[in-house]
Amino acid sequence: MESVPTAWAVRTETEAEVPTGHAQPVQRGAGLRTYLAPKLPAGPIVASRTPAVRLRSLVGPRQRTAAKTIGTRLMAPRSRRRFQELLGGGPLLLNLGSGTYNAPGWVNIDLWGLHAAWGVQPDVIWDLRRPLPLPDGSVDAVFLEHVLEHLPAPVGLAAVDQAFRLLRPGGVLRISVPDFGRYAREYAARKTAPTAPGVIDAVRPGRPTDLLALAEVVYDHGHVSIWDDETLVVLLEAAGFTDVAPSGFGAGRVGPSPDSPQRQPESVYVEGVRPA
Ligand SMILES: C[S@@+](CC[C@H](N)C(=O)[O-])C[C@H]1O[C@@H](n2cnc3c(N)ncnc32)[C@H](O)[C@@H]1O
Repeated sequence: MESVPTAWAVRTETEAEVPTGHAQPVQRGAGLRTYLAPKLPAGPIVASRTPAVRLRSLVGPRQRTAAKTIGTRLMAPRSRRRFQELLGGGPLLLNLGSGTYNAPGWVNIDLWGLHAAWGVQPDVIWDLRRPLPLPDGSVDAVFLEHVLEHLPAPVGLAAVDQAFRLLRPGGVLRISVPDFGRYAREYAARKTAPTAPGVIDAVRPGRPTDLLALAEVVYDHGHVSIWDDETLVVLLEAAGFTDVAPSGFGAGRVGPSPDSPQRQPESVYVEGVRPA
């Protein structure tokens, strides 16, 4: 009986073979194996895993998000009261998905989580996939930095629709995401000619291949969607925003700038205005 092909099976380091006379340098393959080992997903796969790798695969980004969602639901009554307190107290600037970066002058909002471990607590705990308990047109600006890529694109559109509802006429939506377009252009350029160091070397240096650097933007960190300036502009226009255009780091219509410096090297920024 023919044996079942096992090309997809992940082999352990000791099983690795480099065929005699193979043109590929041994170092490149070994580097790939080392690079991929911590990324092993959960589920049945032919490989010997260390306990540390097994544990990490059990609590991947999706499991962590599920735990955060439950904690956020439990906090909802307290968060509703917090939102009510914010009304009528001057300009209301919302930083949705603030993570461990609290933008000064903004109301920083995120899921429940272990932010305290980084010495940071959001001002309000809320799941932005649910309607924020604030009246229509009660907000002056909304900011989402490196959040959209954590949402499926249709959920991203719903989040932008929600920002439109919350903003007063003339209010501003500002979005920042990893610029997949810049990665893709650089990938293509580096295939044909030497280029000056760019986003790949700045943010994801030393990967076994450039493609693996791009794959991180698509698949790692809990990312489920990819974006570029053109797609962000279309997204904001689809929600009804006007004057939609790319913006620069630290620039834009709203102050104080909420852009976090560590995000600058790989980010694209787009702003739009809620029309009257
Ligand atoms: C990559 S972090 C970005 C944090 C911060 N904005 C920054 O740029 O440093 C993505 C953040 O989005 C938050 N997030 C993802 N889905 C969310 C949701 N449904 N509601 C609220 N926050 C969410 C995550 O908890 C996480 O803190």
